[in-house]
This record gives sequence, C-alpha cells and structure tokens, in this order.
Amino acid sequence: MTDPVQAQYEAYPYPARDPRDERKRLIAGSPSHLDEVNHYLFAGRRDFAEPFRALVAGGGTGDAAVMLAQQLSDRAAAGGTVPGEVVYLDLSTAARRIAEARARERGLANIAFHTASLHDIPKLGLGRFDYIDCCGVLHHLADPVGGLAALTGALVEGGGLGLMLYAPYGRTGVYPAQALLRRLGGDLDLKTRVALARRLLDALPATNWLKRNPFLGDHRRSDAELVDLLLHPRDRAYAVPELAELAAGADLRIAAFVEPARYEPASYLHDPKLLQRLAGRDAVTRAACAEELAGNIRKHIVYLLRADDPRDPVARPETPDAVPLLHNLDGQRLAKSLGREPVLNAELDGLKLRLALPRLAAPLLARIDGTTDLAALHAALQAGDSALGWAAFKAQFDRLYAALNGLNHMLLRYPAA
Ligand SMILES: C[S@@+](CC[C@H](N)C(=O)[O-])C[C@H]1O[C@@H](n2cnc3c(N)ncnc32)[C@H](O)[C@@H]1O
Repeated sequence: MTDPVQAQYEAYPYPARDPRDERKRLIAGSPSHLDEVNHYLFAGRRDFAEPFRALVAGGGTGDAAVMLAQQLSDRAAAGGTVPGEVVYLDLSTAARRIAEARARERGLANIAFHTASLHDIPKLGLGRFDYIDCCGVLHHLADPVGGLAALTGALVEGGGLGLMLYAPYGRTGVYPAQALLRRLGGDLDLKTRVALARRLLDALPATNWLKRNPFLGDHRRSDAELVDLLLHPRDRAYAVPELAELAAGADLRIAAFVEPARYEPASYLHDPKLLQRLAGRDAVTRAACAEELAGNIRKHIVYLLRADDPRDPVARPETPDAVPLLHNLDGQRLAKSLGREPVLNAELDGLKLRLALPRLAAPLLARIDGTTDLAALHAALQAGDSALGWAAFKAQFDRLYAALNGLNHMLLRYPAA
C-alpha cells in the first residue's frame, strides 16, 4: 500500500466505534440527517416513500451510512414502503469491517458496501444518487476538485450533496503541531509517533496555540482521533471563499451552511455602520466575513447542488401547509423555561447568543411536533385568542423560525405532492 492516507485509515479506522454500541444509541448528526437533507436540498418536499439512493463517499466506520440507512428504514416501516438504498464507499477495509458490523447489529439490509476510491466512481457502475454524503474526506485528497467532480458526476438531476470540510481559523494550532511532529518523528512508524504525540501534548508550553485552542479536544478521546488531527499525512483547511471555489470547480453551488447563524455577520456584529457595509452582499461574501469574525469555526458543514440546478433548494415557511419540526431541541422543555419576555440563550463554541423570541414562542414550541402544520398551529392559538389573525400569527412564527433555524434547531417539511 503506497498511499499514506489509505495506510493511516487501515491502521486507525476513523472514527473509533464499537459495533455493540449500536444496541444503545443511533449516532445522528450533520450533514446527512434525513430531515436536514429534505430541508436544505429538497425544499422540504422530498417524499422518501419514493425510491431514494444515497452514496456515502469515504464512509469510514459508518456513522453517516448507518444513520441514513436506519432513518430510511424507519420511514419505510412507518409507511409500509421499501427503504431507500445506501451505498457505502471507502478505501479502508478496516473501516468497512466496522461499518458492516454496525449495520449487522442493527439488522440493516439496505446498505451496499464497496471498497474503492471515490476517484474511481465513474468506473464502478454504482449508478446515480439522489444524495451524496462526503464528510471529512475531500480535504485529505491530493486532488479535491477532481474528487468532488466525480461526486457531481454521480448525482441525479435535482440531487444534492452534504459535505464536511475543515475550516482554518477554528483549527488554530493544528498545523504548527503537525509540522512539529513531522520534525520530531516523521521518520518513525505510526504507533511510535502516536506515543510521541501524546508526550508532546503533555509537554506543550502554555503559549502554544493548540494548547490555547479550547475547541479542539477530540484527540484526547482515542488514538484514531489523535492520528486524524495531529499525524495526518495530508490535510488542509478551507476558508469560505476557498470552499466556494472548490464547489465551483466541480460545477456545484452552495445551498446552505449549517448552522446558518454561524455564517451570518449579524450574529457577531451589532454596529449598524459596519453591518451596512455588508448589506446586499452575496451569501458567500457574508459567510466569509462571518467566518473571519467568528474565529471559532473548525469545520464547515455545507449542502450543495449542481451549479446549473435552477431550484431554490432550501425550505422556507411560505404557506400554511408547512410543517415545522424541532431538530435536537426539546420544545416542551424550552417552552416551560420561557418567561414573559422570552429569550433563548445559546452557545456556539464559546460564542454566547441571546436571542429575543416572539411573545407566542412558548405556546408555539409546546405544539410543534413534526406533524402539525402552520394552519393547525394558527387554529390552535386562535382558539385562545380569537383576534389572532393569520398575518399576526405568521409574523410571530417567522421570528421564532429565524431564531431557531439559525441554530439548525427548526426545520420544515411540506406534505408530499
Ligand atoms: C476522516 S475519515 C471520515 C469518515 C466518515 N466520513 C466520517 O465522517 O465519520 C476519512 C475517510 O475517507 C476515506 N478516504 C480517504 N480517501 C479516500 C478516497 N480517495 N476514496 C474513498 N475513501 C477515501 C478514508 O479511508 C477514511 O475512512
């Protein structure tokens, strides 16, 4: 095996996972949670009872493949339909074995496993995909544009991608530490370098940027994580403009960043003169400024579609049949905690946000259950306040939506056409 990246993931499959843990929990996250895929790429209107094919490119030990396959199976079981299909692809046979064992633990029969490079997709005869997940992979390729273009070529018309790519400023300290470890032990075998890296971590002076970066802690959890962060043979980070350039080079455009509020300058700036300088600027420029302001973004989670796809793929709360759903948020609990002037306190990696919520936030949150549409929510609130017209209700909902969707805590779906 000559490719050092492949050799690393054979020796240290990533992330470290024990298949027996599947009995206790499902790991679900971004990108690729089916509710997010629907919201950010299919305007909330994808009917998963229709045939659906997802590719997980560089699937590692199986987080995204297992999540997608489980969510597709659950929806099919609820609707009495055939579950969508997930195709897992990775170079590492060690990672694949763990992913397969996890799927077995769950009794998932809708994942097809393949060992190959994503560069070879055009030759593999895998067919085309409605959705492609590529999480933490492209920034390790010698030719990321070529790799991403291979993924674009495998999309059906109207399909989309979810990516995770490293971001530079939140990784402050990582690249000098990688360089230092190469100087100290680049000639040693990987296992010895792991031990060396652990010694170095314990010995870093207080001024070292890795030591001073409070948002990097994964490498303390397992050897696989330590190797991935500090001993990787090929790894780069993308600032927002570079990410947009990568996407354009592969004939893609950005549909949405997650969480949206991280990429909005107004989350960080309140000076109207400064904000005015950004008024009317395009989404990528605003996101670039937000990233430079924030300084704490370690990775970009981004949904993309073909550059020539004319759709607005992101769901908006437009009509009364929109169904809001809460994502990683306990609405009942939040509703109970809100006072007369409702406020949501949130934290994004050290950035404290205090978001004023609308007057009706608590009764709305208590009723949002992922099946009740805006019309029914309006009717329920109107029952207690007959003067609450649709426009006033909608203004209240829109304010709640803006705050919660900014944190990726509220998504939308529409009934299947
Ligand atoms: C950091 S891991 C991410 C795993 C998984 N996507 C996740 O987020 O949990 C990167 C994975 O990409 C795989 N990989 C690297 N280059 C690849 C390529 N050219 N084709 C397919 N897989 C590749 C590695 O073997 C490894 O499993």
